[in-house]
Amino acid sequence: MTIEWDAGLRQFHLRNDRISYLLRILDNGMLEHLHLGPALAAGRTYGHLGRRDFAGFTNRLDDPIALELPTSGRGDFRVPALAIEGPDGSTVLDLRYVEHRILPGKPPIPGLPSTYVEADDEAETLELVLRDEPSATVVRLLTTIFRDEPAIARSLHVRNDGAAPLRLRTVMSASLDLPDSDWILLTLSGAWARERHVIRRPLAPGRQSVSSRRGASGHEHDPSLVVARPATTESCGEAIGLSLVYSGNFLAEAEVHLYGTTRLRLGIDPETFTWTLGPGEEFAAPEAIVVYSAAGLGGMSDAYHRLYRSRLARGVWRDRDRPVLINNWEGTYFDFDEERLVAIAAVAREVGVELFVLDDGWFGARDDDTTSLGDWFVDRRKLPNGIDGLARRIEALGLGFGLWIEPEMISARSRLFETHPGWAIAIPGRDRTESRQQYVLDMSRPEIVDHLSGVLGDVLSSAPISYVKWDMNRNITEPYGGSLPPDRQGEFFHRYMLGVYELYRRLTAAFPDILVESCAGGGGRFDAGMLAFAPQGWTSDDTDAVERLAIQWGASTLYPLSSMGAHVSAVPNHQTGRITPLATRAATAFFGVFGYELDATAWTDAERREVADQIAFYVANRDVLQRGRFIRLQGPFDGDGNLVAWMAVAPDRGRAIVGLYRVLSHPNPGPRRIRLRGLDPASSYRVRAWPEIDDATSRANSGTRGGDDLEQAGLILDVDRHALAAEGDFWARILVLEAIG
Ligand code: DGJ
Repeated sequence: MTIEWDAGLRQFHLRNDRISYLLRILDNGMLEHLHLGPALAAGRTYGHLGRRDFAGFTNRLDDPIALELPTSGRGDFRVPALAIEGPDGSTVLDLRYVEHRILPGKPPIPGLPSTYVEADDEAETLELVLRDEPSATVVRLLTTIFRDEPAIARSLHVRNDGAAPLRLRTVMSASLDLPDSDWILLTLSGAWARERHVIRRPLAPGRQSVSSRRGASGHEHDPSLVVARPATTESCGEAIGLSLVYSGNFLAEAEVHLYGTTRLRLGIDPETFTWTLGPGEEFAAPEAIVVYSAAGLGGMSDAYHRLYRSRLARGVWRDRDRPVLINNWEGTYFDFDEERLVAIAAVAREVGVELFVLDDGWFGARDDDTTSLGDWFVDRRKLPNGIDGLARRIEALGLGFGLWIEPEMISARSRLFETHPGWAIAIPGRDRTESRQQYVLDMSRPEIVDHLSGVLGDVLSSAPISYVKWDMNRNITEPYGGSLPPDRQGEFFHRYMLGVYELYRRLTAAFPDILVESCAGGGGRFDAGMLAFAPQGWTSDDTDAVERLAIQWGASTLYPLSSMGAHVSAVPNHQTGRITPLATRAATAFFGVFGYELDATAWTDAERREVADQIAFYVANRDVLQRGRFIRLQGPFDGDGNLVAWMAVAPDRGRAIVGLYRVLSHPNPGPRRIRLRGLDPASSYRVRAWPEIDDATSRANSGTRGGDDLEQAGLILDVDRHALAAEGDFWARILVLEAIG
């Protein structure tokens, strides 16, 4: 990996074995983007990639077609990366090169989550300083290339070197100009309980975007954008991903220009953002991670998974086995007391569960969702011996103890609201909109962050708590920062996020051994920003196995298995009413951070035995199922989506777990093949079905097969047309592959 600086051509070549990222400084000091793609040879000049016989709006031949940091108002009518109102009220910027530095490693971004390196030789960073003279705007543009990944990290800092305030209106973290528009745009979109479905649409002239203005990245769209060639598959072809390490309002946009080029941009949503930058102040934009893959969508996901698992997530839990948990939410909702919880935990312990999580309803007087958020003291009616008393009983059973909190919220019916009604977000003189019967605390105010860090610190130190589920169940309306003057209200949403990150930072620093799972009504803030503090997140409130195939498949586009909470729940499923076999529920939840979310005391003896086997299987294979390479084989968004297959492979390719799922049983199918990937083609693998059932799938595939055979010919499904009737709907099968030389 190198960052090569050619002083003659004024060209920067950021390069590793996989990719090249090229830019150069034009004679007028503007920054031209030359290339993002497969690695190009070092020591060469690539200026020809940028300059063409092209006349843009101004007919000036020094107007490049592709810009590293586009602004508006000077003849480039595409969407800008930066729009900053100067002292004269205009937003025109002429950002010209001032200087650059090449730094070993990767500097952190103050106040914001970001990827990191553990040794300076893992990455190199180009810091470019640009300046607009009339407005005295200085931009520090940091571009990091990682040694081992086809990935670039981009961050941006804007400084005011003048004497008058600047007003930031658009500050995109990444802007990428591509030379053509022959791409399919993929977004991860959906809603509560059906998050991160893969939505594909061809690029077309004009702008296409997804965004959030909710105060959180949201259930509706992931803060990312992927483009892939029309022929790109999971394993072949080009794909480019842009992913924002941020949890608040965002915009992800593609614009196809009249000359058929494409501009991608990703950053804080400009419609809900302005920022006043006083003289001498600097503003840091969130980081964006750009991945280029020549090995299909799967190659792109591999890079995100490795980076996000090992260089974004941090803390002692990053590399540790995550415990198999049982959460009482769907088992009891608000209706529990100490005895009922201990009874659930006792059964769970018998079958091998390692951690008991007490969800919503333990504090204040919360028997439903109308009350008590903000009152973080135990409800002695339900838990007479306090959290400590309960936690110690759970511990005595041999389980860890985890606790649910929702720090950012306040109920109108709470002591906190009685004492501090002004802490709930509101616009003076206007009604507050209630949602889920709760309001949101104004996290932009430091005194509220201080208060929460104090009271929650007390809760976490009051008992042996080894896990926290940090929930966030409603979005922000009437956005208004109580401590911000009227002309700075545009800063509110970002300041809210900075407050949330500060609280996360303080609590995770004070309690480094606690495993934190982020949550926002399921996947309503399941993003790379959260991953920097919470190494796992609750992927969705939808625990239905069939729905989870789509949700986990989509989420895996960017996020690793170690980040995806996945639980087996009771049937009929509480979100869909669907009845799926226990085996299918587990086979789906295995591919993530596994757990149960039900009343374990309701299990029959046969179910207890089955669950015990499931947990034993997961624990024996969780190194692969949490930290292995996840490979999507056939997806819920392919064809009729009826057959889904994926696998997780150990880093040394010695073991692999394959999950096969057939949603509906259609009569009289023909035999089908599922080609595996990621194996050692030269090795032989012993293939066996788990559990060891003597069925058609098992008979057709069990035995010793070559890695090459499994990859080139594949597993054989639906060999026995008559077996299907017995298997029925919602069928799943796990196959275990072990290399035997
Ligand atoms: C939403 C979460 O996603 C659920 O798992 C549960 O914790 C509820 N909130 C509790 O209110």
